[in-house]
Amino acid sequence: MSVRRLAPKELQPGSFAFTDENLAWAKATIAKYPEGRQASAVIPLLWRAQEQHDGWVSEAVIRYIADMLDMPIIRVLEVATFYTMFQLQPVGKKAHIQVCGTTPCMLRGSEKIIKICKTRINEHPFHLSADGNFSWEEVECLGACVNAPMVQVWKDTYEDLTEQSFNKLIDGFAAGNPPQPGPQNGRQFSAPEGGPTVLKTIGKVKS
Ligand code: FES
Repeated sequence: MSVRRLAPKELQPGSFAFTDENLAWAKATIAKYPEGRQASAVIPLLWRAQEQHDGWVSEAVIRYIADMLDMPIIRVLEVATFYTMFQLQPVGKKAHIQVCGTTPCMLRGSEKIIKICKTRINEHPFHLSADGNFSWEEVECLGACVNAPMVQVWKDTYEDLTEQSFNKLIDGFAAGNPPQPGPQNGRQFSAPEGGPTVLKTIGKVKS
């Protein structure tokens, strides 16, 4: 796990504000919580701000959300720096690829996925590709171990990857036509590969 701190000053934009649409959404989200508990909206608001702000959370975003939720800035900073779902520096415009490197994914080939990231994107995690379109990082278990190895891009996961299907995934994002999220080998959700092995026939209940 890398050290998580805010991007250097020279990368920090001066200000941030929600668009009108996102502001309306934020107000509706905050209103879901009881009076005095508005801070509970910090994660959805940070996420929406990250989506608006090209995929990363700046210091200005943190100050804006803290102000909106009447929270100390340090509390919002704690949340943003704790969860790897929040990026703290500029990421690839088309995709920031989070590769799970925890044991089940590692045993099923995540090292090959990381090798492709190093070759096709950048030798180093959190660094942009030459065209600025891609970046990558290694993360801990993302909860899809049964379909290892897997990666997450923005909100979606891509599972049951091989070198071939992962290369295809990068090509898809580069062309603005990413594959369907989920298993990339035809598996249905987390069902056994090759299809169900039990409950294959639906019998009638005898009365
Ligand atoms: S170990 Fe990779 S998703 Fe759990």
